[in-house]
Amino acid sequence: MSEQREQWQSTAGFIMAAVGSAVGLGNIWRFSYVTYENGGGAFLIPYVLALFIVGIPLLLLEFGIGHYMKASAPVSLFRIDRRFQWVGWWAVGFTMFGILIYYCVVIAWCLSFIFFALYQPWTGVEGGANAFFFGEFLGAATEDGLRGPFDLTGPNLTVLVALAAVWAINGVIVGRGLRAGVEPVIRVFIPLLFLLMIVLVVWSLFLPGAGQGLTWYLSPDWAKLADWRVWVEAITQIFFTLSLGFGIMIAYASYLPERSNITRNALITAFADSGFAIFAGVAVFATLGFMAQAQGQGVEDVVTSGIGLAFVAYPQVISELPFLPTMFGVLFFSALAIAGLSSSISLIQAFVSALSDKYEVDRTKVVGTLCTIGFLLGMVFTTGAGIAWLDIVDHFLTSYGLVLVGLLEALIVGWVFGGERLGSHIEGAGSFRFSSHYGTFMRLLMTGALAFTWFGLHQAED
Ligand code: PFF
Ligand code: NA
Repeated sequence: MSEQREQWQSTAGFIMAAVGSAVGLGNIWRFSYVTYENGGGAFLIPYVLALFIVGIPLLLLEFGIGHYMKASAPVSLFRIDRRFQWVGWWAVGFTMFGILIYYCVVIAWCLSFIFFALYQPWTGVEGGANAFFFGEFLGAATEDGLRGPFDLTGPNLTVLVALAAVWAINGVIVGRGLRAGVEPVIRVFIPLLFLLMIVLVVWSLFLPGAGQGLTWYLSPDWAKLADWRVWVEAITQIFFTLSLGFGIMIAYASYLPERSNITRNALITAFADSGFAIFAGVAVFATLGFMAQAQGQGVEDVVTSGIGLAFVAYPQVISELPFLPTMFGVLFFSALAIAGLSSSISLIQAFVSALSDKYEVDRTKVVGTLCTIGFLLGMVFTTGAGIAWLDIVDHFLTSYGLVLVGLLEALIVGWVFGGERLGSHIEGAGSFRFSSHYGTFMRLLMTGALAFTWFGLHQAED
């Protein structure tokens, strides 16, 4: 055990790191395609409600318990009751590590597309950006659709090299430690990311057809609210986007000083994250409107697959843009890569702190080993069957990882540790009251919503 536990240099450092972890590919890539698939404006209402019913209370729970126990997830849960330790390891070792592996692959795609934006290799390809992405780039397309999981091909060299670069960057930053590595990098990345996004949003608003895309994005379709699957998607997206159920927010809060305004930190993190997603959505949907107009289609018909939204729609737009197309593409994919990297380093950092809370470990060795294993396991996603695997792993991890862990946390903290006790700890540390009914709320509404989501996810499979 380390006697001298590292601490954040300042509250701003903590908030930046929490926001850095939260704001990621989930806000641009995942948010926009889930929104797209669930009817655009229709999705925003369940999304915002899910933020308040599940997102903020659970974030408060993770921050609160990490701060109370001064330890990452496995040890924190162990201290509530030793029988719960496995939930923490499940969150950190299985869910977090699993997601990290494919998350880095998507960052590798972003890095590749920064270069592709310069050369636009899809322009000569029959079928345009769609055929380029699934066919030439991923090597996933066959005559009868995409390759299945067992239709393995050799790894794609471009993705493989980019993936090695992603892991090397991760390793170097996290290897330097919290204060010398993660914190200063995040301090540069997050403001840079917000700046890039502002440029992109303003730019996209001037595209012809932007209005059509925005109307679709912002006008609610009330009928969709009756579909329970939309709610399940919204809650799942909230987990992913706020980095909940990974144990990461628990680890982060464990480095906070004794006196901290946890409620304020949770609200800032949650609103910065969802605000960023909704804002980034403006750029994405304005761009889709442009594409719809250029192709004479409705916004809802422009893209056929969710994953394609970022990697097919944007490249296509880049080659049709009236001015500075290369620049637009480089900006967009750099923003995605930076968002992704700031999240991946926070994941690895949390993983390392979970291990070093429990065992004497040499950080350099752990980080080196972790990055090597991550790279090796990631190789399966660089093959032609990669997309099929990505789909399977993502689905499996969200239901048996994130949502299940969230549900267990709510049960364990709500009933065993005591929701009221957590509430008074949070207030005692110097926070304003979130709600005097936090404990009751946690036990009933939040747990109910999580149980609904968990069963819903399994229903959706049939
Ligand atoms: N919240 C991140 C996103 O929205 O992209 C994803 C993520 C990053 C989840 C880091 C978990 C994590 F620890
Ligand atoms: Na996010």
